[in-house]
Amino acid sequence: MQDKRKSVLITGAGSGIGKAVALRFNAEGYGVCLFDLNEEAVREVAGELNPEPGSICFAGSVTEPETMNKAVSATVETFGGIDCVVTSAGIVSVEPAVDADLDKFRQTLEVNVIGTWLAAQAAGRVMIEQGHGSIIMIGSVYGSGGAPQRTAYCASKGAVHNLVQSLAVEWGPYGVRVNAVAPTGVRTPMVQDLIDRGIYNLTGVQGRTPLGRLAEPEEIAAACFYLAGADAGFTTGHVLPVDGGWLANGYILG
Ligand SMILES: NC(=O)c1ccc[n+]([C@@H]2O[C@H](COP(=O)([O-])OP(=O)(O)OC[C@H]3O[C@@H](n4cnc5c(N)ncnc54)[C@H](O)[C@@H]3O)[C@@H](O)[C@H]2O)c1
Repeated sequence: MQDKRKSVLITGAGSGIGKAVALRFNAEGYGVCLFDLNEEAVREVAGELNPEPGSICFAGSVTEPETMNKAVSATVETFGGIDCVVTSAGIVSVEPAVDADLDKFRQTLEVNVIGTWLAAQAAGRVMIEQGHGSIIMIGSVYGSGGAPQRTAYCASKGAVHNLVQSLAVEWGPYGVRVNAVAPTGVRTPMVQDLIDRGIYNLTGVQGRTPLGRLAEPEEIAAACFYLAGADAGFTTGHVLPVDGGWLANGYILG
């Protein structure tokens, strides 16, 4: 085991928000464990990081408890502990509720809720033992309200927001903080894919957002970095919207 240095495990680190989180935490001096289903993608991200203080890659699904436990153990072994987890692995399904495919619905809940829970659980065991840690989940403005054709996705993000509260209450006495960042639209491959498939109302999203644009992944990573550190030392059980004013807006802007 090496000398203790700050470390973060990031799920979904091969793309979009997870990748931006990896780049930001690496730039801030964290050792990074990159976890993703897509092995090639995490290896590419690892190649973009500063070699110091180091990174490790893990390929697997967040829905596999054993793989997640191994990734947490490898993080502890490599960096001397685990200070932070950011759960960014997630999928979206878009279909009318009456035609919703049960397998797709289950898979969305499996990855977005169970996968998030398993990452938190695996890291939480170590963090409780250490007496400190910060878990940051990527929620969504859709965890706080409904949207057409996204029943599974909205239900999954609502569950993530409640996981934040339940785990914050259970683990607060051990010094483990649990929060979420809830974005609206972020310019990532997930959103680009929906735009390309003609099932993302970009004009509508930007129109409802007072700041009038999508977020950049780096803006979500910045909020994660804030929640990870001492500046957020008394913040737990909180869902932080990083949404350009989306949730504040009860009005459709012209
Ligand atoms: N992009 C947005 O507008 C937006 C808005 C709100 C919330 N979010 C949430 O942010 C998170 C990241 O989204 P993104 O836009 O960066 O998506 P993305 O598709 O660009 O990246 C998601 C990553 O998760 C990985 N992944 C998917 N299933 C996995 C699994 N079972 N195990 C391990 N890795 C898996 C993918 O391989 C991919 O690398 C998701 O939870 C998403 O719901 C995104």
